[in-house]
Amino acid sequence: MVNKSFHITTYGCQMNEHDSETIAGMLLERGYTRAEDQKSADIVIFNTCSIRENADNRFLGTLGQLKKRKVASLKDLTICVCGCMMQQPQVVDEMKEKFPWVDVIFGTHNIHEFPELLEKYFAKNKRQRSVWEEHGEIVEGLPCDRLFRHKAFVNIMYGCNNFCTYCIVPYTRGRERSRKPEDIVNEVRRLAADGVREIMLLGQNVNSYKGVDADGVQRDFTDLIYMLNEIEGLERIRFMTSHPKDLSDKLIQAFVDCKKLARWIHLPMQAGSSAVLKRMNRRYTREQYLELVRKLRAAVPDIAISTDIIVGFPGETEEDFEQTLTLCEEVRYDSAFTFMYSIRRGTPAEKYEDQVPEEIKHARFDRLVETVNRISIEKNAAYVGRTEEILVDGPGRNGEENFGGRTNTFKLVNFEGTPDMVGKKFMVKITDSNTFSLVGEVVSEV
Ligand code: SAH
Ligand code: SF4
Ligand code: F3S
Repeated sequence: MVNKSFHITTYGCQMNEHDSETIAGMLLERGYTRAEDQKSADIVIFNTCSIRENADNRFLGTLGQLKKRKVASLKDLTICVCGCMMQQPQVVDEMKEKFPWVDVIFGTHNIHEFPELLEKYFAKNKRQRSVWEEHGEIVEGLPCDRLFRHKAFVNIMYGCNNFCTYCIVPYTRGRERSRKPEDIVNEVRRLAADGVREIMLLGQNVNSYKGVDADGVQRDFTDLIYMLNEIEGLERIRFMTSHPKDLSDKLIQAFVDCKKLARWIHLPMQAGSSAVLKRMNRRYTREQYLELVRKLRAAVPDIAISTDIIVGFPGETEEDFEQTLTLCEEVRYDSAFTFMYSIRRGTPAEKYEDQVPEEIKHARFDRLVETVNRISIEKNAAYVGRTEEILVDGPGRNGEENFGGRTNTFKLVNFEGTPDMVGKKFMVKITDSNTFSLVGEVVSEV
């Protein structure tokens, strides 16, 4: 029996959240326990993200602060770092120099090795650094300690082949590879039997999923949705992220045919100017993007659409930026994640001339946020008076009786409730709205 507790801090996207669930699952299986917080943990794990410079900086700041604790700690404090930052050789070299007291380093391709690395570290009292340059076969059957009992992340593919010119992910997560359809279906069946009502299918670009059946038949992403839609006990299927260039008519039809497929799509636009999109290597134009939105809304009139937008990409002119604003006005997103372009080492855009000055990026960012928030407010206000089916996720932020859950369209709703409601579905009447959430009153259980 290992008498040690661990704590994981996760940065970045759902992919990392899910990896952290796997790391926790592997450690719990071996007898480690979860610490209540980082301060009381024997093993502190950081699952890092490298998507933008401030993601890097936040983590390095936290790590710096930990040195004092490591030196002063009476019991042995073990510090482990993994995730996308560790897949960049130059970052690992810098870490060796600046943070030589980090005990275990591993990458995104060898998460399954972590328990052995940790045991080796304890047995030999010697630092362990193991980062695979290339990914191996997909490792199936790893344990997973889910964040929620009633909903789960399910990875369907790993990696990315798109090489958007600003993005680090293809370098930190390797090439696209898809899990076998039956492995996914069996996992979701097991999850549903274990009480999971909603799944989020994960991948950097889920609609380039290409899985091969045991009998050699190829299945694409939409085939997979139809298969999962049949699973008893499962009620909602979501996915993220889908790339506009691969959003097929077949998938749009699945929104109509598959009752369990939630009426929400995250469709990153990135920029409203076709010239900028071209330099980003996104492989769609403004017009093609708008056409997709038109088709989605024709098929599912009340589908919620969210997006990612970057401002200040190299060479972005005032006119280009205004096209991003007008695209937002045309699409009317339910919500948008907005980012200032951040130079990533080793990506093509790092070398692009005419980088946009910081103050212009900031000014454009503020204007964009003003636009997207105004539209979100209007979109949310339209929900007031409706009664929506909510799957209750857990306590909200406003006191003991406050609970939160999501509509089918992924809107966050807060309402008064009781802990026994978590994981169940209720009809909730929407009484008020904010920029990022709705307020409601429970009407009845579904
Ligand atoms: N695979 C997903 C997104 C992964 S990263 C997709 O393609 O949609 C999430 C978001 O971070 C991206 O959509 C993009 O908007 C943003 N992003 C990625 N690299 C960035 C960079 N270098 N600077 C600023 N934002 C970036
Ligand atoms: Fe990055 Fe583009 Fe791949 Fe998304 S599709 S992970 S933005 S390279
Ligand atoms: Fe970050 Fe890696 Fe996700 S860079 S956004 S954690 S894939």
